[in-house]
Amino acid sequence: MRKMKVQKIKQLFLVGVVIGALAGVLFTALIANVIISKNEAKHKKENTSLTEKNEALSLQVSKNEAAHNNAAVLAGNDDGWALALVNEEHPLDTSYAPAGLVEIESERSVDTRIAEALQKMLDDGAAAGLSMYVTSAYRDYEYQRTVFNATMNDWISQGYKPLDAYDETKKSVAVPGTSEHATGLAVDIISSAYSALDDRQGDTEEQKWLMEHCWEYGFILRYPQDKAEVTGIIYEPWHYRYVGTEAAKEIHEQGLTLEEYLQQ
Ligand code: DAL
Ligand code: ZN
Repeated sequence: MRKMKVQKIKQLFLVGVVIGALAGVLFTALIANVIISKNEAKHKKENTSLTEKNEALSLQVSKNEAAHNNAAVLAGNDDGWALALVNEEHPLDTSYAPAGLVEIESERSVDTRIAEALQKMLDDGAAAGLSMYVTSAYRDYEYQRTVFNATMNDWISQGYKPLDAYDETKKSVAVPGTSEHATGLAVDIISSAYSALDDRQGDTEEQKWLMEHCWEYGFILRYPQDKAEVTGIIYEPWHYRYVGTEAAKEIHEQGLTLEEYLQQ
């Protein structure tokens, strides 16, 4: 009888030990799981922040390249090609020519890479009841020279001295070698109802629509009002430049010029 009792106690003890061991294993596993999950969450967070930092850094590199290596950026296949900066401080190699050109209207060609977006913008504008057309698009160095000289001669014939005529001209026509028309990414679009290239062009229904919607197609109004100090060019409510949808959205939302966007 006593022997049986001792055995029972032993059995109970054994069961207790087994249950205790199992509980210990389970508890350890549970704790380990919590620690692993916590670590995983921490690593995931670190990874996300590293990826974000990487993306920001690579955007910064693209922006820097866009300003200082514009011909190579334009010719490249990397995403940044549409951000190439061409202005008086950042001339474009005079030998640069887009690898592919598409005629969007008679004798008006653009870089193949922007043709579809441009066509869609023009088609949607037409579908909205507007009438506009591309009056100037890709211009090579020689063509830009012709435009520049013609405008300068106009000023001279109005009585300006050659140096003053030069200064006046370059406010609205980029000095040959510094025009973004040579990139094939810029177009002058005007209203069929008003063909003059002056401030009032900006009051036409066509320009109002373009200014509101161009970013949706990856374009920006390149020389906005009151930004001549930054761009070096007076208000040109007809000159649109393709920069890609992402940049166009930011530039539009923040009211920037391409120069300011690239410096951010
Ligand atoms: N009218 C613009 C500034 C150009 O000539 O490129
Ligand atoms: Zn233009």
